[in-house]
Amino acid sequence: MMAFIPRVFSGIKPSGDLHLGNYLGAIRRFVPLQQTHETIYCVVDMHAITVWQEPEDLRRWTYEIAAAYIASGLDPKKSIIFNQSQVVEHAELGWIFNCVARVGWMMRMTQFKDKAGGEGGENSEAVSLGLFAYPSLMAADILLYKATGVPVGDDQKQHLELTRDIAKKFNHDFRKQIKGLGFDEDYFPLTDTLVTGPATRVMSLKDGKKKMSKSDASDMSTIYMMDDADTISKKIKRATTDPESLPTEAAGLEGRAEAANLVAIYASLADQSVDQVLAEFGGSGWGKFKPALADLAVSVLSPIAGEMRRLVGDRAEMDKILRDGADRARAIAIPHMDEIRQIVGFVR
Ligand code: TYM
Repeated sequence: MMAFIPRVFSGIKPSGDLHLGNYLGAIRRFVPLQQTHETIYCVVDMHAITVWQEPEDLRRWTYEIAAAYIASGLDPKKSIIFNQSQVVEHAELGWIFNCVARVGWMMRMTQFKDKAGGEGGENSEAVSLGLFAYPSLMAADILLYKATGVPVGDDQKQHLELTRDIAKKFNHDFRKQIKGLGFDEDYFPLTDTLVTGPATRVMSLKDGKKKMSKSDASDMSTIYMMDDADTISKKIKRATTDPESLPTEAAGLEGRAEAANLVAIYASLADQSVDQVLAEFGGSGWGKFKPALADLAVSVLSPIAGEMRRLVGDRAEMDKILRDGADRARAIAIPHMDEIRQIVGFVR
């Protein structure tokens, strides 16, 4: 049987306005992979409803993420772009994986512990069962396509280790049936986590110890993809920093979380390394660096926001793109799902 083909899958949850962390940690990294891999980029609406979403917001954010993909340089003819709920096989494989994964594995997920409150899940009466099972649906998203690489920000690493654990256990538990189907190797690949570039963990502009996220109380801490130029500039110029000037090499950023964050953002937006940025700005104060960063951010983000606005205004076109993506995704998913049903022993 054929070895695994280099195929990339990633997804973003439509559960809030897209921000600079989503862009630099994920979307911006998705684009060049189109040259080297078969690429599948999903808007994971079924993941979003693990916490309550107003249905109108869910719909709006779904279009917004698909629009951001395209406005950032994903070509819907080359990449498969779709929303998860249009390919029902995600849910079916998710269920099978619920029966492969162990409860203990899920209990160790830090994102669940953060939301459900502590090791014992003190808040577990208030969170959905879906939130608990979420990582096994995530494994299904990836393995339904036998994707070999998953580009994500740093915060998703643990979920991807669990994806490998599920693949390993499935390959092991069903070894005989997998062989019986003619596979002389594993049925599912062990997926590579692609965490690359200088901005894998973009931090809040107000607190260098906190991750930039969709749910921050302070609007000044987060740059949103749809922010206008003035807002972006203002947020960067008011970002919290220490009083020191910029160091001349990366080691000098140690212990300076806020400074390190702004330099990483600059490097990522300019497609440079941190060292290259410091070669230019080392020794400068914030009075020079912040305006340069603001200009760079506006020059990269404003055209994307403009194109996003145009695209979300054309729902007919967006629906067409998402439907076409779902058809192409299903063409890969259906034959895999047929094999998986046979492996598991479901009568057809
Ligand atoms: P989500 O929607 O929380 O985030 C989407 C992507 O953005 C990255 N990201 C960040 N990167 C750098 N700095 C930040 N501050 C930052 N905040 C978010 C995330 O790492 C992610 O890559 N479980 C996933 C969605 C998902 C998925 C998948 C991803 C579902 N199925 C299959 C990959 C493959 C999530 O909640 O991402």
